[in-house]
Order: sequence, then C-alpha cells, then structure tokens
Amino acid sequence: MTLHLKKAELHCHLEGAAPPALTEAQARKYNIDISAYLRGGAYVWHDFASFLECYDKVSEVYKTDEDYALLTETYLQELAEIGTIYSELIVSPDHGKRIGLGADAYIAGVCEGIRRAKAKSGIEARLIVTGERHFGPESVIGAAEYAAKAGNPLITGFNLAGEERMGRVADYARAFDIARDAGLGLTIHAGEVCGAFSVSDALDVVRPSRIGHGVRAIEDADLVKRLADLGTVLEVCPGSNIALNVFPDFAAHPLRKLKETGVRVTISSDDPPFFHTSLKREYELASDAFGFNDSEINALTRTAIEAAFVDEATRVALLARL
Ligand code: ADE
Ligand code: ZN
Repeated sequence: MTLHLKKAELHCHLEGAAPPALTEAQARKYNIDISAYLRGGAYVWHDFASFLECYDKVSEVYKTDEDYALLTETYLQELAEIGTIYSELIVSPDHGKRIGLGADAYIAGVCEGIRRAKAKSGIEARLIVTGERHFGPESVIGAAEYAAKAGNPLITGFNLAGEERMGRVADYARAFDIARDAGLGLTIHAGEVCGAFSVSDALDVVRPSRIGHGVRAIEDADLVKRLADLGTVLEVCPGSNIALNVFPDFAAHPLRKLKETGVRVTISSDDPPFFHTSLKREYELASDAFGFNDSEINALTRTAIEAAFVDEATRVALLARL
C-alpha cells in the first residue's frame, strides 16, 4: 500500500485524464454520439494510432472554459485525495482553437480549475503546453509561440507529443528553440513508440532536462549511460507502456534497470483512464511490480520535484512537504 506516501506527477495529458463518466455526461450535454470511442464505461481503442484518434474524439466533448475548469479540478482533486502535492498537466491550446473555444479561453478554464483545486486541497500544479507531431511542424511552432508569449506564470514547460513515427525530432527543432528562448522547461515524448534512436535525436536536437517515457533507451547501453551522465530525468509511465504494448509485461519493463544504471526516473500515469490506470496504481506498481520500498519510492517523488518546472521558492516549499 502506498496511500500514506506523498506523490508528485510530471506527465499527464489533461484530456487523457478525463473520467469516462464525466466524458459521458459531457457527450449527453452536447448531444454528441461518443459510443464508438466510449463503451461500458471504458474508452475504446486497439493500438497507438487508434488511441490518438480516441483521445481527440474524447477531447471534443469538452467545449467551454467551464468544461475545462471542471475537468482540471476533478483530476487534481482525485490526485490530492491520494496525497499528491504536485502535478504537471500537459495541455494543448491548439485543441482550444480547433473546437472554436480559442487558446486563451481554454487555458483560462484550466487555470480556474487549478485555482479551485489549490483552494480546496493545497495541491500545486503547472502547465506544459504541447505540440502534436501529427498536426505537423507549423502547428507545433504555433504552440511554442503561444506558450512563449502567453506570459502566464502557470505555463512553465513545453513538450512534443502525438504520433512519434511522424517526422524526425529535427523537423520540430524550431519550436523547441522558441520555447527554450522563452525560458520554458523542455521535455519531449521519445523512446515510446520509436526505438532508442528517437531518444538520441531528442538529446542531440532539443537538449531537454526531461524526456517523456524514454524507456526504449534500454535498447542501447551507450545511450543509457549518456542519459545517466547527463542527469536527464525520464517521465516513466509503466501502466501506459504495458497498455500500449511497448513491453509485453511489467517483468519486461526496464524501470528498475534504468534506475540501477543511474538514470534519474520518475513515475506518472500519462492518460490514466485510457490505460486502466491512475497515479495511485502507478505508485502501487512501483511497490508490487517493481519491488521498490517506501524510501526508494520517496526518492522517485523527490526526483520529480527536483525536475519540476517550477520556480525555486516553490521547489523548496514542495521538498519541505515531502
Ligand atoms: N498524447 C497523449 N498520450 C500520448 C502518449 N502516450 N504518447 C504520445 N502522445 C500522446
Ligand atoms: Zn504522454
């Protein structure tokens, strides 16, 4: 049992955290037929491409700033109830544009949800703006420009998510340059669907302090050593990796091996209800599937806070709460 442990999460896509019951209620409210993507209380997909499609369809039932405030508050409250003190949410202002809400109203709704959750439970949260590879480099540059110019103190990072098999990291370098110049923290999905080369590409081109997943670095021993030497933090999402068949089972998952080789690792839930997981379950897996004891699990949480995209005063305050 890990309920007594304080927790932190660096890698969760906001719409990917939408509880199925809330998505069903939203679909009813807007008279949208979601039955092809949500049945029997579970999201319906069968591989990475169909997961991304399902994710986009589910996102379409969240339409207003108030819908986003409710979604954000609901997820952060769920985290706070299991002892989570810090959460970074991956958000896509592009999505706000696509549904006609607009990027500013989308972010305003999310920030209102953060404010409400913090008032209730004290949970601290920050936003990582993401570009989606499958919408192409121009759209990713647009997301970076938005994050850079937003002047919103809760937007502290930039990410690249979506279809990892589309293009190479170099195609998206300009977006990361914009985000770096604006002082945003950098992280990037790599080594999830594609192999070790995508992690090498990310290190060469983006020079991020963190990598989303990164677990397929395990296919290249020199690369694992490079990650350890650089101190790059991996946002590892074991339940997601098994659900997406990146590894056949937890016994084959490299979380423990990466940690023992000196790589700085953390644990997150990615898109929890899509992958039949939760941050609570990821912490339980750390104990039950990977055999970490309480002090080792606390060390993962400490690493997450050390790598969090927050100002130093907030980091010190969070570390003091551990
Ligand atoms: N978007 C939402 N979840 C994702 C994942 N696991 N990989 C890449 N893009 C995503
Ligand atoms: Zn992700």
